[in-house]
Order: sequence, then structure tokens, then C-alpha cells
Amino acid sequence: MEKKLNRIVKKTNDYLYRYFSKEKNTDLIKPMLYGLLPGGKKIRSKILFDVGSIFKINKKNILQVAAAVECIHAYSLIHDDLPCMDNDNLRRGKLTTHKKFSESTAILAGNSLLTIAFQILSQKKLNLSEKKKIKLINLLSESSGHSGIAGGQYLDLSYEKIKKNKRQIIDMQIKKTGKLFSFCCVAPIIMSGKIKYLGMFNKIGNEIGLLFQIADDLIDLKGKTSTVGKKTRKDLKMGKATLISLLGTKNTIKYANKLKLNIFKSLNKFGKKSRDLEETINYILSRTK
Ligand code: IPE
Ligand code: IPE
Ligand code: MG
Ligand code: MG
Ligand code: MG
Repeated sequence: MEKKLNRIVKKTNDYLYRYFSKEKNTDLIKPMLYGLLPGGKKIRSKILFDVGSIFKINKKNILQVAAAVECIHAYSLIHDDLPCMDNDNLRRGKLTTHKKFSESTAILAGNSLLTIAFQILSQKKLNLSEKKKIKLINLLSESSGHSGIAGGQYLDLSYEKIKKNKRQIIDMQIKKTGKLFSFCCVAPIIMSGKIKYLGMFNKIGNEIGLLFQIADDLIDLKGKTSTVGKKTRKDLKMGKATLISLLGTKNTIKYANKLKLNIFKSLNKFGKKSRDLEETINYILSRTK
């Protein structure tokens, strides 16, 4: 798994470096690249390639969609770390973008990463019909805005130090983290045109995202800052509403494993073809960083 993931890391990083080298050189390019590269596990890209391989999607096209997703993800991290959000100084083993540059620069670099994602998706080089491109752009904007990342982040912050129930926490986490994973599961379906699988992969994507956030919360509790590359043991201090704070560690792990088995059950019908995706899902839960 590590090897396969490293290949994806290299491919997406190379693509993004190339793409940015062709952009006009403005003052924001430096802080944008700082927040974007070279760090990051590229799990969302891996999911895109995994689902893409089930539906035999052209890898060059997948790579471009992955680059767009990583830009959105990097933007969300830059803003997540701002003093008015989680107020963090360390990300991917280095100073957060607002610490390295300034708060206003980090906000604008984040905005620019968000918009460049749509620039990438709408480029001519993405070899898809206009109709499919528009569908991808439509879904990615929905996944990023008020009913996705931004909306989930809003809830995450407004739930601080407030007791919330399981439904509310799951709904918040699916928005802030699940929607982008869901996009990664659904984009290859849109590219293949096999729309009868849309609903199924939308659900699987939300659930993988939820698993991913649960693992992130467990890592926050148990991980070491030096391995994780970001400050750990913060969620408790900030009073974040997480499944761990509501149910305890043991029950949260139990819930996550049940969720994982459910996903595996629905992937059963793809046989060997979904093995890479299953491997990635196992990795998501067992990872330590
Ligand atoms: C961290 O995401 C933020 C969450 C949604 C939990 P990642 O753990 O994927 O961050 P990088 O890209 O590897 O740094
Ligand atoms: C962030 O969740 C989710 C995003 C959409 C950015 P966290 O706040 O838990 O992410 P980390 O732990 O700072 O990476
Ligand atoms: Mg946060
Ligand atoms: Mg955070
Ligand atoms: Mg976290």
C-alpha cells in the first residue's frame, strides 16, 4: 500500500508542479505552492485512481481531477489552521501558511487554490465531453461550499464546547470531510457515464470520509506531533464535538469497523476489481499519520 500511495504522491505532485510552472508568476504563487506541496498523503487522489480502475477510466484524466481535488483540500487545510478557525502553527511538518507568510496572504492563497481547482477541471486538456466536465465542476463546487466543506467547517466551529448527538456529529463530519471523498468516488462514475452507480458510490464516499475523519480524531488523541506533522491532542482542549468525545474511544472504533464492513459488503459485487479500494479503506483506518 505504501508503495502504491507513494506512486500517486509523486504523480500528483509532478503534475501540480508542472501546472503551476505554466501559470503567470504572481506573488500568491509562492504561498499557494507552500500550502499545496510537497506534503500530504494524497489519499483522496488514491481513491480517485482506485474507483477509476474499477470503471477503467483513462488515468491521465483521473490525474487532472486528482490535481483539482488536492488544490481544494490544501485550501481547506490552510483556512482550517487560521487563528479564527483551529489556530494551528504546524501543518505537514512545517509552519502553517499564515505563520510562514501572513494571515491575509494565507486567506488569499487559500481562495486562489479553491478557484484554481475549477480552472484545472475546465481546461481543454481534460479529455472529456463538455457535458461531463460541467457535471464534475457542478459536483465539486457543491462538495466544497455551504453544503460541503465550508458548511461542515462552520458546524465544526459552532459545535465547540457544546454537547451534540451522534447524528449531528456524523452530519457535520460528512460535510466537512465526507463530501470531498464522495466527490472522489463519484467523479469516475461521471467520467464513465455509468450513472446507475452514482447513488451507491455517493454513499460509499460519504462513509469513507467519515471513516477518514474518525481516524483523524483518533490520531489527534493518540498520535505524536513529530510523526503526524501537526499538533495533536488539540480536539479535547478545543472542546471539538467528535464521536470519541461522545462515545469514547472503544465504541468509536467499534462503530468505525462496522461502517467499514458495510462498505466492503456493498463492494462485494465488484470482486477483484475493488481490491485496491478496499486496501485503501483498510489503510485509512489503520494509519498512524
Ligand atoms: C487532514 O487531511 C484533514 C482532514 C480532513 C481530517 P489529510 O490527513 O488527508 O491531510 P494531508 O493531505 O495528508 O496533509
Ligand atoms: C479538518 O478537520 C477538516 C477539513 C475539512 C479541513 P480537522 O480540523 O480535524 O483537521 P486537522 O486535524 O486540523 O488536519
Ligand atoms: Mg478543523
Ligand atoms: Mg484542524
Ligand atoms: Mg483533526
